[in-house]
Amino acid sequence: MESHSPSSKSFIRLENIFIIGNGGRENSLAWAIQKNELVKKVYLTPGNAGSERINKCERIKIDINNKNELVEKLNFFKIDLVVIGPEIPLANGLADFLRKKKFKVFGPNKDGAKLEFSKSWAKEFMQDANIPTANFWKVDSLEEAKKIINSSSIPMVVKADGLASGKGVFIPNSKDECFEAAESILNGRFGNSGNIVVLEEKIQGPEVSVFALCDGKRYTLLPTAQDHKRLKEKDKGPNTGGMGAYSPAPLLTEDYLNRIIKEIIEPTISELNKRNIDYRGVIYFGLMITESGPKVIEYNCRFGDPECQTIMPLLDQNFVFLLEKCAMGNLTSDEKIYTSDKVSGCVIATSKGYPFEYETGFQINIGKIDSNDCQIFDSGTSFSENGELLTNGGRVLSVVCQDKDFDLVFEKAYKNLKEIHFEGIYFRNDIGYQVRKNFSKEN
Ligand code: AMP
Ligand code: GLY
Repeated sequence: MESHSPSSKSFIRLENIFIIGNGGRENSLAWAIQKNELVKKVYLTPGNAGSERINKCERIKIDINNKNELVEKLNFFKIDLVVIGPEIPLANGLADFLRKKKFKVFGPNKDGAKLEFSKSWAKEFMQDANIPTANFWKVDSLEEAKKIINSSSIPMVVKADGLASGKGVFIPNSKDECFEAAESILNGRFGNSGNIVVLEEKIQGPEVSVFALCDGKRYTLLPTAQDHKRLKEKDKGPNTGGMGAYSPAPLLTEDYLNRIIKEIIEPTISELNKRNIDYRGVIYFGLMITESGPKVIEYNCRFGDPECQTIMPLLDQNFVFLLEKCAMGNLTSDEKIYTSDKVSGCVIATSKGYPFEYETGFQINIGKIDSNDCQIFDSGTSFSENGELLTNGGRVLSVVCQDKDFDLVFEKAYKNLKEIHFEGIYFRNDIGYQVRKNFSKEN
């Protein structure tokens, strides 16, 4: 058996790493990857203004849809490993293409990315493998949708089948709202992503995110996390990409995580193998902990954002080896992820108006930051012509801190947020309320 002891690591070439994506997620991946001394340079395309604040990181301009240019640049920069962050290039088959060109790639091929880019396919996949998930109906016409909604007595969730930048899920309060949602999806609100609608039984319980790094046959788990999806405090308001997170999630005790492994994670890997899908990347299990046990809400073929920013600081310099082993199909069956004994939390600062319309281009001023076990990962920033840092997205930046307990973590995070200023800055003050012992006393 091939050895992956530290002495053999020097034979792995990992000098130049290339990351595709432009969010806080990709910046935190770059930050975790550059910790390893074998890594000399991390290139990001397109990255954002925060990318070059990270040690060893450089942004390069490449149109990833121009395949010739991409291959030429990867060869020119002598790239040893490509990490594809977002779902869209994965759904478009970029990993397949680069693997054919003999690059080492972390990120599934198109067949694996289907777990995320077709919700109906993923539901059928779970049904075949007996993986617990909400009951569902797949429809492609309003008549069919109406028939099912009218004959059903349970509350439902309405989803566009394909990718919709996190906006394709509706949680209606009445049958009329269900029809409206199904109608708007089928009428083209999300283009071809809405040719099929998935109607789902509405289930209840806290949500957790579990990430499995997979090498095609084996997997290893990252620390668990909980995300805050709603815009407003007390988990109210519209759904967003995520307003903050914490890791690990104390809700998942060792026993409960073992149950999730047995009922969900291992059956997912087996079903992929059964279907000859050689999945080399991360599977993000979006789970709901219901009264009757854990259920899959969704699969994603990428890291979560902001869960990724939250988890990365808990990992040691070996993280990049894990990515490489996944890319090569070389994980060992007893792979260990070395994690800090600290806990981590992340608060996202957004532009006023997010997740709906918002303005960008406001100057960001950052005062005196406590940088001891704290990171700022830019999510949507750019530079003005004279080098000022500007807002350039709905989610602008992530403030991440680690400490012995979640009270200390969020105390530091919110202290740092007081030092960050831009017009219209908004963030939730209650991120991690479930795990902050002092929270109820303070509020
Ligand atoms: P998704 O993009 O599928 O993760 O859905 C976005 C959010 O909608 C989830 O994080 C849940 O909060 C909610 N959601 C999705 N499916 C269901 C469901 N079947 N029952 C209740 N809530 C759901
Ligand atoms: N944090 C949710 C997501 O990345 O989809």
